[in-house]
Amino acid sequence: MITLEDLRKVFPAPGGGDPVVALDGIDLHLDPGRIHGIVGRSGAGKSTLIRCLTGLEKPSSGKVQVDGTDVAALDGAALRAARRNIGMVFQHANLLDSRTAAQNIGHPLEIAGVPRAEREKRVAELVEIVGLSGREHNYPAQLSGGQVQRVGIARGLAAEPKVLLCDEPTSALDGATTAQILRLLQDLRERLGITVVIITHEMAVVREVCDTVTLLQDGRIAQTGDLVDVAADPHGPLSAELIPLPPAPTGLDAVIVNCDYGDSTRIRTSEDLSRLAERHGAEATLVAGTIETIGGRQVGRVQIALRNDSGRPISPEGLAAYLRELETAGVVAQEVSA
Ligand SMILES: Nc1ncnc2c1ncn2[C@@H]1O[C@H](COP(=O)(O)OP(=O)(O)O)[C@@H](O)[C@H]1O
Ligand SMILES: [Mg+2]
Repeated sequence: MITLEDLRKVFPAPGGGDPVVALDGIDLHLDPGRIHGIVGRSGAGKSTLIRCLTGLEKPSSGKVQVDGTDVAALDGAALRAARRNIGMVFQHANLLDSRTAAQNIGHPLEIAGVPRAEREKRVAELVEIVGLSGREHNYPAQLSGGQVQRVGIARGLAAEPKVLLCDEPTSALDGATTAQILRLLQDLRERLGITVVIITHEMAVVREVCDTVTLLQDGRIAQTGDLVDVAADPHGPLSAELIPLPPAPTGLDAVIVNCDYGDSTRIRTSEDLSRLAERHGAEATLVAGTIETIGGRQVGRVQIALRNDSGRPISPEGLAAYLRELETAGVVAQEVSA
């Protein structure tokens, strides 16, 4: 549905000086009918990527194909037509205060010159689809945060797009409302077969609804793939983000090690880790752990404290040998300091 080929975007530095490379050779293919997450720190290039997808930003080079159309090559009327295939949802819906929910939803159709009767029919469908029945005549001030976002989503769907791009759709919502909006996005994907792209900094959102996830770092793709595969790969950067561990505890007279065993079948419990530690004259105690079941696979990371027979921190030699053995068993282990 979406194919990016060697996409680059370079901005001239606003005050002169070195140009800013916001996107640096992005190759990405996103399948239709799935929910794709794009994550990355602030400044990684997420917004620039979305703006290139909508044609708001022209790439410096490379291809941006949405549903078979090269968006980057279009201008004027052709670009406006292609844009109708792409719905947008933002963190803040920015509704028109003087219009009801229904009027806000119908606004893009009004601008596009859709006749009133047709517009009203479509708005009524949209109100039902996003679960706003009974609230359609409320003004924005009379809607909850979640309902406002439902209006924003309905408005994004008004022109029956094939792709819905969501930029931080739940970042301004509380936990329970976030869960409802994510359920709505899943429901839309199922009912309408729409392709959803969610830009987010919330890993919980990715774990909850995304089928695939792409991590952007400094304008490049650091990791991409199906959520299950990415979470189960202890060598990739996303595993630690998706299956987080707390910082090392203070006040323990021990060496603290974070172990990422992905969905390894050789190491999957703290007993496995203890057994290995005993061979190096050490005892491993579980300090913290995160185990998730993603797509039917159990993936996990644990934090252990290592001590020798006399209850003192394991020796550097013992630790090195233990870490080597874990590595052989496919576990990515790292000493962490408090
Ligand atoms: N219009 C612009 N002019 C110059 N630099 C820009 C412009 N837009 C974005 N950038 C720079 O490009 C990089 C990526 O920005 P952005 O795509 O907004 O990242 P994100 O959305 O992941 O926070 C940043 O270094 C940012 O300062
Ligand atoms: Mg941004």
